[in-house]
Amino acid sequence: MSVINSFFLRRVRLQHLAAVTRLAASSPPPLHTVVRPSLSPHVFIFTQPLSCLTRKAGPGGLSAVKVVLTPSYRRKSSQDQMDPRIIYMVYVSLGVGALLLGSILFTHLKDLYKKLVHGIDSYYDPPFGRRRKLIKYEGVVLPAMLEQDLPLIRTFDVRPDDVWVVSWPRSGTTWVQHLVYLIHSNLDISREEEKNLEQRFHFLENVYPGLPSIQANPGPRLIKTHLPFHLLPEQLMTVKPKIIYVVRNPKDILISYYHFLKMLEPLKFVGTFEEFCDRFTKDKVYYSPWGPHVRKAVELNQEHDNLLIVQYEDLHKDLAGQVRRIADFLGRELTESQVECVTHRSQFGSMSNNPSVNYSWWDNLGIRDQTQTKFLRKGKVGDWKNFLSPFFSRRVEKMVRDNLSDVEYDFTFQHPPPEAAAATQ
Ligand code: PPS
Repeated sequence: MSVINSFFLRRVRLQHLAAVTRLAASSPPPLHTVVRPSLSPHVFIFTQPLSCLTRKAGPGGLSAVKVVLTPSYRRKSSQDQMDPRIIYMVYVSLGVGALLLGSILFTHLKDLYKKLVHGIDSYYDPPFGRRRKLIKYEGVVLPAMLEQDLPLIRTFDVRPDDVWVVSWPRSGTTWVQHLVYLIHSNLDISREEEKNLEQRFHFLENVYPGLPSIQANPGPRLIKTHLPFHLLPEQLMTVKPKIIYVVRNPKDILISYYHFLKMLEPLKFVGTFEEFCDRFTKDKVYYSPWGPHVRKAVELNQEHDNLLIVQYEDLHKDLAGQVRRIADFLGRELTESQVECVTHRSQFGSMSNNPSVNYSWWDNLGIRDQTQTKFLRKGKVGDWKNFLSPFFSRRVEKMVRDNLSDVEYDFTFQHPPPEAAAATQ
């Protein structure tokens, strides 16, 4: 008789053996219940549960059970018995396998739920790292780690004395943040020395310092974000804090962004330059798409007077003029010597050497891959000409045309480059 029909085996402690032994010593009728010594001397295995045995024994006592423990079986069992370690290993492997399968299934179900209920696509794109998940949230590509905060950002409490700097990444945000800080704080250089830019000017969707800290900041708050307006707090256009939107030629953004993501350990881009260009021009990099981001800012600028647009190229052309323009927008009066001081402290060279704004603190935090370029890389207009192939250059131009050709705004990058203009004359 095959004793090991493992599916029905039950383990019973030694004290139960006494009852069974009494049953075995009793007279017929037999019930062909088999008992055998198990893997451990303290455990016996039955083909039926003990409750079943006692039930079958009937009201007359336990005498109706026959326990078979034949010599042939005993001989066989010592040969057949499997090494307990193997059995445990089988159990452990099955357990681990089941856990793995379960977690894969759970992740897929979770992603499916998010897609169906919240419309969030989660996916991997190998050049962004094989294990780094991206999401598409309300049409915007973002690192998956932002997912939790996005709904909270929509209901974030805005205050009228906040100052917000909004931009697509690598548009010159840091430059404008620095200008805003100096103008807004009436050139408080001592505080600049105490706290770095990230501590003075909070990055809304970043893990540091995090939404609760920004919310609790007594203010006046300076806030930076790269999110498009449709993902930003609903109160932005009703409470009406000052908002400065920064724009830059997307060709220069592409180059700057590629170098930046090569350097940024937590979101490192591991693909080639061509792969990056391809994704940038197909709206597949973090914060894509670029066009609607800019378009919405221009539309809001036409409707609301609490939004100012600053172009990166204009900062290059006339920094002092832009300093006055920003001061005017923020309602701050600057003397000419203050304008000069702000302008001087905001030159690329000054900022690169200023440890409070050049992001050198990232080096100690392991955020920057130090084999790559620095956060403030070159600070030039037109660096794209050193990198971008005619093919991708045309693709970026198409991106601009597709999104902004009917937008009434005098973008510096919509003007043909001087050499092209000369060639057409
Ligand atoms: S980020 O990471 O998205 O916040 O980057 P962001 O600050 O928007 O853009 C970084 C680029 O702006 C350049 N930058 C400057 N250029 C000229 N002068 C000054 N003072 C200045 N400050 C920042 C910075 O160098 C990045 O551009 P690239 O082309 O990479 O140098």
